[in-house]
Amino acid sequence: MRLNLSKSGLKENEFYARDYEKRIKEIHEQLHSNDHSAGTTWVDWPLTYDKKEFLKVLRLARDIEKSSEALLVIGIGGSYLGAKAGIELLAKRSKVEVIFAGLNFDYIDLAEKLDYLKDKDVTVNVVSKSGTTVEILTTLSIVEKWMKNKYKNDFKKRMIFTTDKEKGYLRNRAEQDGIELLTVPDNMGGRYSVLSSVGILPFAVAGINIKKVMEGALDAMHELSGNEIESNAAYRYAIYRQLINKKFGKRIELFSSFSSKMKGFGEWLTQLFDESEGKEGKGLFVTSLTFSTDLHSVGQYIQQGTPMLAETFIDVVTPQKDNQLSQIPLSSPIKFLDGKFVSEICRAGFEGTVKAHSEAGVPICIISIDEINEFNYGYLVYFFELACAASGYLLGVNPFNQPGVEQYKTYMKELLKNN
Ligand code: PA5
Repeated sequence: MRLNLSKSGLKENEFYARDYEKRIKEIHEQLHSNDHSAGTTWVDWPLTYDKKEFLKVLRLARDIEKSSEALLVIGIGGSYLGAKAGIELLAKRSKVEVIFAGLNFDYIDLAEKLDYLKDKDVTVNVVSKSGTTVEILTTLSIVEKWMKNKYKNDFKKRMIFTTDKEKGYLRNRAEQDGIELLTVPDNMGGRYSVLSSVGILPFAVAGINIKKVMEGALDAMHELSGNEIESNAAYRYAIYRQLINKKFGKRIELFSSFSSKMKGFGEWLTQLFDESEGKEGKGLFVTSLTFSTDLHSVGQYIQQGTPMLAETFIDVVTPQKDNQLSQIPLSSPIKFLDGKFVSEICRAGFEGTVKAHSEAGVPICIISIDEINEFNYGYLVYFFELACAASGYLLGVNPFNQPGVEQYKTYMKELLKNN
C-alpha cells in the first residue's frame, strides 16, 4: 500500500505544525497501551487474535459448506459492513452464497431474500455485539420461524450466534438452546471488528483465505508500529485529514475508486469514519463514490460546486481481468482506442480525473494497492482503522463510541413501547 499526498496542496512542514508530532506520540501511546478498555483490542489483534476461535471458524465454514447452499448473515452497521466489503472484493465462485439481512426495517427486502432462499439449504449467522439491536432481533424473530418451518426441530443446528463473550440475550439464548456461539472480542466496537469472527466466518464460508487476510493485517500492524509522522502512513494520513479542514476549510471527504469492487469497502469506510468522528459538532463527513459511473452524476459538483470537498482515491493498479479493443470501425468516435486495453482507458480516466479535480482546488490523497487480494484487504483494513482512531483523537473526540446512534435506538424503542 502506498500513500501519495503530492496533490494534497500541503507542504511537508505543515505536517509538523500545531504540535502534531507531540500529539501523535501521545496518541500512539494511548492506542498501544496494554489497557484496551477504551476500545482498542483491535490494535494488536492481528497478532493476539484467538487462534482457537479461528480454528473453530474454519471448522464451522467446512460444516456449512457440506450442509448449506447459503449463509444468511443477520447484522447491521459494524456487524456486517466489513464482511460485505471483503466478500464483494475477494469472494471467488464459492459453493455457499453469503446473503446479508437485518440491515433495515424494509420487510420487502427480507421477504424477497427469504423467497430466493426457499428451495436452498441455509445456515443463519446472527451477528450482534450488544444483542439488543432492534433491526437484528426483528429479523431474527421472522427468520427463526421461517427456519423452524423449513427444518422443524433441527433448525437450531443451522444457527450460529456471534455476540459478546459473556452477556446478552443472544448468548443466553444460544446457551439455553444449544446454538453454536462465536465471540465479538471485548473492547472491540462493531466497526473495528471485521477481523474477528464477525467478518472471518462469512469470509471463510465465501471461500476467502482468512489466513492471508490476517497476514496482511499483521504486516500493516508491523509497518505502522512506529510513532514517527514521516514513516507511519496512517498517522500522516490522519494529520492530512485535520489539515484539509483547518487550512482549506474542507468539510467532506469523498472516497473515490475506479474499481466497482471497492463499493462495499467505500461503505465500510463511510461508517468507520462517520461513526468514529462525527460528534461534538466536529469531523469531516465521509461518503464514497464509484467512478466513472458517479463522474456522470456528481462529477460536475466536485469540479465546480461549493468548495467543501476533499477526495481520497483508492487506486487498484493492476486489474484482475482485462480486454483489448480491436477492429473498431473507422467511422467510430473511439477509433483512436483501437488496440488499447480497457485497463489503459481506466488509468487515463483516473489520471484525468485526479488532474481535473486537483486543478479545481480539491485536495487529493491517493492510496494505492497493486492488486485486489486477501493480503491487501487485511492491510487496508488495519491501515484505515489505525488512521481513523488517530484522526479521531487528533480531532479531540472519542473514536470508539457512537452516542448519537444509541440515542436513536432509545427513542425508537420508547415510541414502540408507548404506542
Ligand atoms: O460500529 C458499531 O459499533 C455499530 O455500527 C454497531 O456495529 C451496530 O450498531 C450494531 O450493533 P450490535 O452489533 O450491537 O447489534
